[in-house]
Amino acid sequence: MRIRVIGAPIDLGADRRGVDIGPRAIRYAGLIDQLHRLGHSVNDVGNINIPLPENQPTGNPRLKYLEPITNLAVELSDMVSDALQSEEFPLILGGDHSMSLGSISGVARVHKDVGVIWVDAHADFNVEGTTPSGNIHGMILAALAGIGNEHLVNVGGWAPKIDKNKIVIVGARDLDTGEQELLRKHNIHVFTMSDLDRRGISYVMQQAIEIAGANNGPIHLSLDMDSLDPREAPGVGTPVRGGLSYREAHFAMEMIAETQRMVSMDVVEVNSILDRENTTAQLAVELTLSALGKKIL
Ligand code: ARG
Ligand code: MN
Ligand code: MN
Ligand code: MN
Repeated sequence: MRIRVIGAPIDLGADRRGVDIGPRAIRYAGLIDQLHRLGHSVNDVGNINIPLPENQPTGNPRLKYLEPITNLAVELSDMVSDALQSEEFPLILGGDHSMSLGSISGVARVHKDVGVIWVDAHADFNVEGTTPSGNIHGMILAALAGIGNEHLVNVGGWAPKIDKNKIVIVGARDLDTGEQELLRKHNIHVFTMSDLDRRGISYVMQQAIEIAGANNGPIHLSLDMDSLDPREAPGVGTPVRGGLSYREAHFAMEMIAETQRMVSMDVVEVNSILDRENTTAQLAVELTLSALGKKIL
């Protein structure tokens, strides 16, 4: 497969600085080399230029940096659509999770029926009225489903980007109160860590694949590294205990690879300032390889 790597070093959607180093840290951890070794060809187009928060007005405290975030989304969306039209697989490196507004909009423009598997400790399903932080990375999945602030929802001039019946969250364990109500109201499929404890990763992923990839449709994988237990992935801005184990995460990726229906992928929230010797970036590379076909035997 031909893979187009796009770096989106945005940190405007989150409070903790350091995710802007993520794309470089993931490359340092050997991403490109290892993709080659797996037999893929790689077109690394480098990083998108992102304005520094120091030079940007924060704007509305309940929707911090709305304008630069939506600007990036429009640019990234074009880049992702372009990759797909050139028959390259878009692999987008974050950056905080606000970048997925752009990446997933870009995929949805080409694959109208795409479903999303959102692997995350969080649901990122807040809106202006429910956010405890004003950080837009916590609102992106809702925006993609057509819920929330109109500027986020209508990025690129159309909405919703994703049919909410084809959204699946895996690994959730830290949901805000208003966010829980929204998830229930919109019947979003959420597999919490408790569901994982009860049914196991194999069952949960099988369900997730059936829901997001209904009728053998295409799947986008959005991998937030804070889905993993912080013992495995210390370098994230919003760590939450009780996450996916090393093997659970790998197996989830392997199951997605087996479907051969993943059309694009993001890897987000690697925070190098908080990381230990680039461990989290290395794990991001490993998991990406599993998602892109690396097998044990
Ligand atoms: N729910 C919290 C908020 O809205 C945390 C969101 C964390 N999101 C993330 N992509 N790491 O602020
Ligand atoms: Mn997230
Ligand atoms: Mn299609
Ligand atoms: Mn998260």
